[in-house]
Amino acid sequence: AKDPVRVLVTGAAGQIGYALVPMIARGAMLGPDQPVILHMLDIEPAAEALKGVKMELIDAAFPLLRDVVATTDAVEACKGVNIAVMVGGFPRKEGMERKDVMSKNVSIYKAQASALEKHAAPDCKVLVVANPANTNALIFKEFAPSIPEKNITCLTRLDHNRALGQISEKLNVHVSEVKNVIIWGNHSSTQYPDVNHATVKATNGGEKPVRELVANDNWLNTEFITTVQQRGAAIIKARKLSSALSAASAACDHIRDWVLGTPKGTWVSMGVYSDGSYGIQPGLIYSFPVTCEKGQWSIVQGLKIDEFSRAKMDATAKELVEEKSLAYSCLN
Ligand code: NAI
Repeated sequence: AKDPVRVLVTGAAGQIGYALVPMIARGAMLGPDQPVILHMLDIEPAAEALKGVKMELIDAAFPLLRDVVATTDAVEACKGVNIAVMVGGFPRKEGMERKDVMSKNVSIYKAQASALEKHAAPDCKVLVVANPANTNALIFKEFAPSIPEKNITCLTRLDHNRALGQISEKLNVHVSEVKNVIIWGNHSSTQYPDVNHATVKATNGGEKPVRELVANDNWLNTEFITTVQQRGAAIIKARKLSSALSAASAACDHIRDWVLGTPKGTWVSMGVYSDGSYGIQPGLIYSFPVTCEKGQWSIVQGLKIDEFSRAKMDATAKELVEEKSLAYSCLN
């Protein structure tokens, strides 16, 4: 039998946490034959709720779940973890300035980076979900210098999956037949959902470009993009709560593909450390198309970028540069 993998979920008593931990315990993140030990961290005001989640995990009698650590102590939570999914954060509340929210999250991510760096397993993989996800991941990277930058990522897979979903609805094909959309940039409303390289499985087994199948370029260049960019807000409007099950599912997809590899010929979107690919300022955490193999991601190279895309990719990069300087100003 395989040794269990230790998976940390921070903010585990929250909405996403509640959807995510059972998915992990059922094998949706690491596969149906991989036992797991869940480490759940939250803060003191949520300690009682966290206990309740632990009770439910016990009651669900998951065959793959070997143990549960539920704690408000970051050091205990981080001990020996192989995978860290950072969902905990400070939400923006009415009347709060962007800088105030940033400042709260910068201090949370700074502290948790130090705890993980000291106590996690040496090759720990980190996924930041909490917003502002890209910039939280950047701060995390700054304060965990011994964790390789390749191991620190942020979640844009939900946006990627939303883009697949929109194309699937438009063309009336199953979502599994659509692939290779790209989310470029920030997990925010400036993200650029790009379909220029996306394809749909054809009946003869080949692939057809989405641009060919959706004859309406105008829809692809306007409504499609804004629908994906604004989808989070649309969910809040409908549910009075932000996306949780889809975010949890996307977090499982992100880690699963990173650890177990992307299917041949398919890429996914991940927020990763920029090496300057596609002219994006090195050092930003920016969402790129990536393929994964043997637990390593690499940015898909050589895609043709037209002028329309270039402008949108640069605009979202510019926002990330601004967020970065705001985050740094909070440190001082
Ligand atoms: P929530 O408010 O229901 O849960 C957040 C949890 O984090 C709470 O239980 C809270 O007590 C905990 N927490 C706060 N500070 C903490 C700390 N220092 N250490 C550990 N835990 C802490 O929020 P929800 O809906 O679960 O969302 C979580 C985050 O994910 C938010 O920042 C949200 O904006 C973000 N998000 C990101 C998405 C993405 O695609 N990247 C999609 C959807 C949400």
